[in-house]
Amino acid sequence: MVKVTEEIKESLKGTKIAFLATASKDGIPNAIPIGAFKFLDDETLLISDQYFNKTLKNLQENPKISLVWWGEKNGFQVKADITIHTEGEIFRRNVEWVRGIKETLRPKSAIVGKITDVYLIKSGPDAGKKIL
Ligand SMILES: Cc1cc2nc3c(=O)[nH]c(=O)nc-3n(C[C@H](O)[C@H](O)[C@H](O)COP(=O)(O)O)c2cc1C
Repeated sequence: MVKVTEEIKESLKGTKIAFLATASKDGIPNAIPIGAFKFLDDETLLISDQYFNKTLKNLQENPKISLVWWGEKNGFQVKADITIHTEGEIFRRNVEWVRGIKETLRPKSAIVGKITDVYLIKSGPDAGKKIL
């Protein structure tokens, strides 16, 4: 697992929408916009599932994600291995957090991602460079 930098954490905080890519066990890709995400710590992402459909099916059969965003100054592509939590402390804390964002949201599961790789999102010679 890798530890992300403050710059990467600040960049994600500064963006409202990120794009989450998953794939089925047969390799059929799926990408969606998401708004409920944050770093839990330097190695771990939390994504809240309210509406996942194809995404959840993909995660159940192939527990890997790519999350990409472009913030105010920079952008990153993060790969992670995930676990799905539908009960317990992690799920309860996810529900509290999401209801704090918008009371009407009803999380179905908490997706916890252990980060494995980070790449730069930019143009020019460093485009797509692996940094972690
Ligand atoms: C701006 C925006 C933000 C969204 N954020 C989330 C989110 O944080 N969590 C979630 O479960 N769905 C979110 N959705 C819904 C998903 O993008 C998507 O519509 C849903 O997962 C169903 O698509 P799927 O069948 O490909 O999974 C959001 C949709 C939009 C338009």
